[in-house]
Amino acid sequence: MYDTILVDRSGAIAFIRFNRPDKLNAMSSKMKDEIIDALDHFQKDHSVHVVVFTGQGDKAFVAGADINEFKDRTAPEQWDLYQEPFLYDAIDRFPKPLLAMINGYCLGGGCELILACDIRIASEKAQLGQPEINIGIIPGGGGTQRLPRLVGYGKAMQLILTGERISAQEAHRIGLVDEVVPHEQLEAKTLEIANTIAEKSPIAIRLAKEAVKAALRMPLSEGLRYEQSLFSLVFTTDDKNEGVRAFLEKRKPQWSDK
Ligand code: COA
Repeated sequence: MYDTILVDRSGAIAFIRFNRPDKLNAMSSKMKDEIIDALDHFQKDHSVHVVVFTGQGDKAFVAGADINEFKDRTAPEQWDLYQEPFLYDAIDRFPKPLLAMINGYCLGGGCELILACDIRIASEKAQLGQPEINIGIIPGGGGTQRLPRLVGYGKAMQLILTGERISAQEAHRIGLVDEVVPHEQLEAKTLEIANTIAEKSPIAIRLAKEAVKAALRMPLSEGLRYEQSLFSLVFTTDDKNEGVRAFLEKRKPQWSDK
């Protein structure tokens, strides 16, 4: 169905696997378009509760944007690419939980992709970084904005200005990834987290995600009011009635996503 990605399912979990392993899954324009298309499909498919990004092959998650495409690109052409459906905005707006299963090199646009995800789980073999500066450019997929929000100003500056790669352990220490696991346990750990989320009420999960994301773009006073409006909204759902009733009746809830 796609040329540069593979998509597959494990129950309510959908995987998007970057599939150019001989190029360390470098992200081409075509790959960006195909990811946007797959996300659109998974957004509309109500049987998908969680989406996981990962890389094919043993070496890379994504080793950055495809540098070959930069060679002859002009500034107006680059600006037009931002006006098109922009991958990092599509990821940021995606309403269901997005997990990054980081199996190897996670550099440049790959690192920016995980920054726009909700939970990051890394193999202990992974290496992460923003090496754009080494080829005379700067991050252009949200890295200069999302990285300081996640790891703080100084660490973001250090990564972006030195262009150096860090280990998964160091990425965990600074908060760039949320879990580090032995390589062979990566998929199992990711599925464990994904399945735990997938078992909750999908509508409550989407509202919880929406509320937490607001914390990154709103001042505290507005964010707290927004949380209250979403908290009131969740009281209109059948799943709230079912969840509360099931707890009081000491049984498992049956979610309807309504
Ligand atoms: N864009 C295009 N091609 C890339 C790429 C990228 N971002 N990253 C890797 N590749 C290609 C290499 O050109 C090579 O292709 P070839 O076999 O046709 O020559 C192939 O993937 C394997 O990469 P190679 O460099 O031989 O692997 P390595 O193990 O020696 O080094 C890296 C791995 C990740 C350190 C190195 O590939 C690298 O620095 N990549 C660029 C990272 C980067 O700057 N990303 C940000 C771009 S804005």
